[in-house]
Amino acid sequence: MASMEVLWGDLLRHRGEFEQFHLKKAFDEDPYRFNRYSIEMDGLLTLDYSRHRITDKTLFLLETLLETAEVRERFSDLLAGKPLNATEGRSVLHPALRGSVAEDLTLDNGQVVAKDVAVVKARLYAFAKGVRAGSICGADGQPFRDIVNLGIGGSDLGPRMVCHALQGWQDGPRVHFVSNVDGAHLGDCLKGLDPARTLILVASKSFTTQETMANAMAARRWIVRSLGKEAVGTHFAALSTNRQAVEEFGIGADRMFEFWDWVGGRFSVWSAIGLPVILALGPERFEDFLAGARTMDQHFAKASFRQNMPMIMAALGLWYRNVWACGSLAVLPYDQRFDDFTAFLQQLEMESNGKSVRMDGRPVSRPSVPVIWGSAGTNGQHAFFQSLHQGSDMVPCDFLVAAKPNHADDAQHQLLLANCLAQIDALAFGRDTGIISEQMAQQGASEADIERLTPHRHFAGNRPSTLLLYEQLTPNMLGRLIALYEHKVFAQGIVWGVNSFDQWGVELGKDMAHHLLQSLQSGEKSESDPAIFHRLMAYRS
Ligand code: F6P
Repeated sequence: MASMEVLWGDLLRHRGEFEQFHLKKAFDEDPYRFNRYSIEMDGLLTLDYSRHRITDKTLFLLETLLETAEVRERFSDLLAGKPLNATEGRSVLHPALRGSVAEDLTLDNGQVVAKDVAVVKARLYAFAKGVRAGSICGADGQPFRDIVNLGIGGSDLGPRMVCHALQGWQDGPRVHFVSNVDGAHLGDCLKGLDPARTLILVASKSFTTQETMANAMAARRWIVRSLGKEAVGTHFAALSTNRQAVEEFGIGADRMFEFWDWVGGRFSVWSAIGLPVILALGPERFEDFLAGARTMDQHFAKASFRQNMPMIMAALGLWYRNVWACGSLAVLPYDQRFDDFTAFLQQLEMESNGKSVRMDGRPVSRPSVPVIWGSAGTNGQHAFFQSLHQGSDMVPCDFLVAAKPNHADDAQHQLLLANCLAQIDALAFGRDTGIISEQMAQQGASEADIERLTPHRHFAGNRPSTLLLYEQLTPNMLGRLIALYEHKVFAQGIVWGVNSFDQWGVELGKDMAHHLLQSLQSGEKSESDPAIFHRLMAYRS
């Protein structure tokens, strides 16, 4: 079998065959292009990748690349509990949280994974049912009305995004998320809340993260001030892997919901970190969310390349990043409540694959993850879409949209849909100068104006986008979509040869912040003291 470098060479040469390619022409020449380049799942979800600069040959070459990298084999290893996170010596088993590993999978330390997952899940569901029914309540007997989740990164972005996206499905207590160490974040959140009716969740895998622990201590003071020290046990719960630190904080074993080192932070929404979701939506909907992800796990493991959504998305990402040198990917959910998805994906993609060293310590042979950015349509159309259409860089885009809304105003939803479909066509097909000149002439423009303005009004098109169209953003669908991106990231990480499951790159800043905090507190100059530190101290004096 050809080596990866030979295959990359083939792909780079193949790019040369696109000199004359234009998406408009490709659609004109092939009325079945959508059928050829789309995947449908269960009558609920379509991946339309027809608006990409690809041919059958491109897909053949990309399929060979992913096969040669042994993506499927590595996914089997992952499901078998092999320590794929080699730099931390850990398995990577988040699919186990949604029932996608063998019932009897036992790790070297004797842990029977599925059994432990079931035990914690039963505790989470019992607790959530109690809180939702009011039988688990505040110190003075009042039911909890507000839940405040204190966490950051994976202990915030996943549950925050899911709760917001499924706001229309919430029927439990109100959930709030505080992540930033900026005191304004917690202060603003607590301002409107009654401590007697508030349950605080301290969500931290390590239970040592500076931001989360600072917010947890501040929230603890807030509870103690109005309800007394004895109320802490009743008004707090912990979601963590660090039993000892949770106990030291004063949260009892009955209020600690555990997960394990084989759940990475950015893959943890399926674990105890999902408690805010369970509280807001109820255990049944959470089960449905897990079932959606499980469906995608099976699809990823079994579907052939051309029918495999994560494989195709991974392949297209590699094609643009490494063959066309695209530096970014725009993620554009046409759904206001799904706006946080882009921030969630930033961690999922960029913390996972933002690496320049391979598993074996050698530098990567080609650039890894692009910058992930974007925001909800249609807002983005009035901000940065100008650059997507006419800017000098080609930015591949992922559009996501539901056929049916999660609200009652279908007329407005039609507007949203029309905008989404218009954008993908405008990007792909553009508008040629002939039509523009004609339109201007009809509007009575002079010859001189037509000549002067046509280049400015010209849309070159041929700009690639993926459309994920789903029936409705249900808990099940959201589970599918998140798992789809998780597997895409996994497949790309395998091809780039990086460890997608560590995040050493965040450590240096944490260390330096620790030293600088000491200097700030003492006012004494530290060894790495920058000149700006003196200016800062002067402003603070
Ligand atoms: O940013 C680094 C990181 O370790 C993330 O990977 C993680 O999701 C986040 O910090 C929060 O960590 P913890 O859940 O341990 O507080």
